[in-house]
Amino acid sequence: MKVTHLSEILGAEVDCIDCQDISDRDFATLQNLLWDRGVLSIPNQDLTPDAQFAFAQRWGAINVNRFFTPVVENPRVAEVLKEPDQELNIGGGWHTDHSYDDIPAMCSMLYAIEVPDTGGDTLFASMYAAYANLSDGFKQALSSMCAVHSSRHVFGHEPMEGDRPRKRLHNPELAVQDAVHPVVIEHPGSGRPSLYVNPSFTVRFDGWSTSESASLLAYLYRFGARPEHTIRYRWKPGTLVIWDNRATWHYALNDYHGQRRLMHRVTVEGVPLRAIN
Ligand code: SIN
Repeated sequence: MKVTHLSEILGAEVDCIDCQDISDRDFATLQNLLWDRGVLSIPNQDLTPDAQFAFAQRWGAINVNRFFTPVVENPRVAEVLKEPDQELNIGGGWHTDHSYDDIPAMCSMLYAIEVPDTGGDTLFASMYAAYANLSDGFKQALSSMCAVHSSRHVFGHEPMEGDRPRKRLHNPELAVQDAVHPVVIEHPGSGRPSLYVNPSFTVRFDGWSTSESASLLAYLYRFGARPEHTIRYRWKPGTLVIWDNRATWHYALNDYHGQRRLMHRVTVEGVPLRAIN
């Protein structure tokens, strides 16, 4: 296994491994690397939906996404597709997957099948770094706060009827989750503090109104997305990227109109999140 960091603070490329044939020792190394680096890119894989699913199961129980289109060959794998004639993509805004669940997802694994000649990169931001770069006083204030996260305004009936990637998202009646999580979590794997609010699913601070929350959340979103907290990932077919949803945000760029992009995603269940002490 050869590991190359993608930036000072975030991401690692892992070469010379086959996700379908990893020893327990290498798997433990991979897990610790994910907790530390937040994003792992594993190129040159040959993964059928069943093989991707089997690899994901080594990480934990699978959270079958209730809103995405399932892949025909394995309906527990989600399709992330944009056709040349479609305008909107899936995931085209900063977010972290499943923060609207009471027990949010540990990690997501996206496998590139078809990528545009240009464009279609994914941005990632480190929430370890975002938290670390706040002032001590602000850290202290945030550490006693919780925030409410929801799926309703993204996957529910209302956005489905508007200008959304409609045919690719399903079951708006299931978008009824609201969950409360600490604003600063202790990462369950690394023990490090991580900022756990995100622009797509966090709706307000717990005990605060939406309008009271808006400007402080907007500040945190601008701060989290500062370029020095981010990397930009350029895809190649056959690459599997794993991101830790408790330590990162991601953003699928929608800059490849007229071209096709097809990925397969599997998401692994996490554990309840605790506030940092
Ligand atoms: C997602 O948000 O899960 C999709 C990310 C991507 O397509 O790059």
